Amino acid sequence: YRPIRVALLGAGSVGSQVARLLIENKEELAQRVGAELELTGIAVRNLDSKREGNLPSHLFTTDAEALIESSDLVIELMGGIEPARSYVRMALNSGADVITANKALIAAHGPELFDLAEQLGAQLYFEAAVGGAIPIIRPLRESLAGDKVNKVMGIVNGTTNFILDRMESTGASFEDALREAQDLGYAEADPTADVEGFDAASKAAILASLAFHSEVPVEQVYREGITKVTALQIETARESGYAVKLLAICERIPASDGQPEGIAVRVHPTLIPEEHPLAAVRGAYNAVFVEAESAGQLMFYGAGAGGTQTASAVLGDLVGAAKRHLAGGPGLADSVHANLPILPVQAVTTRY
Ligand code: HSE
Repeated sequence: YRPIRVALLGAGSVGSQVARLLIENKEELAQRVGAELELTGIAVRNLDSKREGNLPSHLFTTDAEALIESSDLVIELMGGIEPARSYVRMALNSGADVITANKALIAAHGPELFDLAEQLGAQLYFEAAVGGAIPIIRPLRESLAGDKVNKVMGIVNGTTNFILDRMESTGASFEDALREAQDLGYAEADPTADVEGFDAASKAAILASLAFHSEVPVEQVYREGITKVTALQIETARESGYAVKLLAICERIPASDGQPEGIAVRVHPTLIPEEHPLAAVRGAYNAVFVEAESAGQLMFYGAGAGGTQTASAVLGDLVGAAKRHLAGGPGLADSVHANLPILPVQAVTTRY
């Protein structure tokens, strides 16, 4: 087989690790896929930015379009909506399968992109968009495809879990715990997306759409961040046997009083009993707890962020995409996403 040409868009903490692993593990990946994965280029906005790792400078380019046009598979790790969305569309239109870790893009434009992929017989992979290294997309999308998921509850933002954990264990204020998270490189320089729950809301919309086989617009996700949580509230909760966690909660609401069956999707600080497995998730870790009719209760736990950890999920998708490319045909997960029905998203006031 001739090498499979892989384009990388973005060289941040995840992108630079994906590039490093593609180069360092070239032979092993080639054996696993059955053809060499050739990193043909890394598109960046600015060639002069300081970057992690010692990646060969000849790989960097500012011409994302030319790179996309000359590749078989495209990995989008730029983040944000534009130009990521245009590049993903361009890649799908050029016949490439796309791998992305971009939760904001999938949450806001998933249906449009999945429909486009379906029309073109292409595939859009996004295991890395929720829960970093944790396999959660594929289990919901494939392993549980024959079951009926009733509820998903997740700690899907590592930064806020770290902050709440520090507030609990040291009595630190929200501001001090946030500063510590920033010093350790967890929180972004602008922490709004994390602490106000926008990041978790995007992930909740994605999880709900997979769990309930439904379109879930991110604007319909109820969202409340952790900025108003105090160390005293956390201590009081602990004394009563509860932990305070920022949870993404997705649940089915049964039909009642003439209302059709619907779903509720919300992100807010939540009191959970300390014996619940989610209460034991400390630091910057993530976990997703799933209740399905036949499978019962499942929990997925692991590193929810971090360059190498998230790169693991990206490379898993890449191996799948590369095998599909070699086989030249649609894979198992095709058509799962396109043309989904829209279930009514209902406002729910009950807590956990
Ligand atoms: N800012 C996110 C978090 C990164 O803290 O979990 C992973 O999406």
